[in-house]
Amino acid sequence: MAATILDGKALAIKCKERVRKAAKTLSRRPGLAVIIVGDDPASRVYVNSKRRDGEECGFYSEEYALPDTTRQDELISLVESLNARADIDGILVQLPLPGGLDEEAVLMAISPEKDVDGFHPLNMGALLIGKEGFVPCTPAGIMEILEEYGIDPKGKRCVVIGRSNIVGKPMALLLLQKHGTVTVCHSRTTDLAQVCREADILVAAVGKVNLVTADMVKPGAVVIDVAMNRDESGNLCGDVAYDEVAEIASAITPVPGGVGPMTRALLMENTLKAAQKHLGVD
Ligand code: GUN
Repeated sequence: MAATILDGKALAIKCKERVRKAAKTLSRRPGLAVIIVGDDPASRVYVNSKRRDGEECGFYSEEYALPDTTRQDELISLVESLNARADIDGILVQLPLPGGLDEEAVLMAISPEKDVDGFHPLNMGALLIGKEGFVPCTPAGIMEILEEYGIDPKGKRCVVIGRSNIVGKPMALLLLQKHGTVTVCHSRTTDLAQVCREADILVAAVGKVNLVTADMVKPGAVVIDVAMNRDESGNLCGDVAYDEVAEIASAITPVPGGVGPMTRALLMENTLKAAQKHLGVD
């Protein structure tokens, strides 16, 4: 039986509409500041999309496009000035930063209450111990996809490939919070295929074309593809060999149109949440 296509694009439209309606009830527009340093073309595309999403949701947005010669202290001063602004609820520094800039120090400088990416150690720590905080957008978006399609991780074998701070680690924690039995795989994992074959829910977040092939997937598994790669013809694709895996999975996210739109929708949800908190609304 063909797999259900987990339509992140359609779900993101619904989420953003919900955010737009909730934002309209506030006494002022939620404010999002996005900082991009350097001229990485992929980062530029992402930042443009985030601005469009913000406009769709009725947010006030500011973009700071800085040259790759920007010094660490200049970048941190900008973050600090945005921390102090009453009209800015969320601050996002697009990653990766050009070499020479200390990503960790910059992320630490963002006020945790405005950290709509959920990358500040305080928010990461809150996620680890199951306390309220901002959750990184990609794994949070994946959890919304699972919920929308009635896929409950409880008691399931969940395998996450990739251990990044942005996706792999928070993904594992969210699946664990929902009572999944979670394994995190990475570049040093021995017999990746064998581990993946145990998964009821398999999340691939590596950035390697055709990393996950049909022989690595248990029949009926749910397959979530986080990556955004280009194949040899220049077409967008994920980590999963989509056509062959879709024949044996019960559900699968397409690339594009799966996880990506939900990552952006969650940024809007987090910014709305930040604004509601700043304005004393829950
Ligand atoms: N670069 C790739 N993904 C992300 C993300 O979710 N947030 C930020 N700030 N940078 C990224």
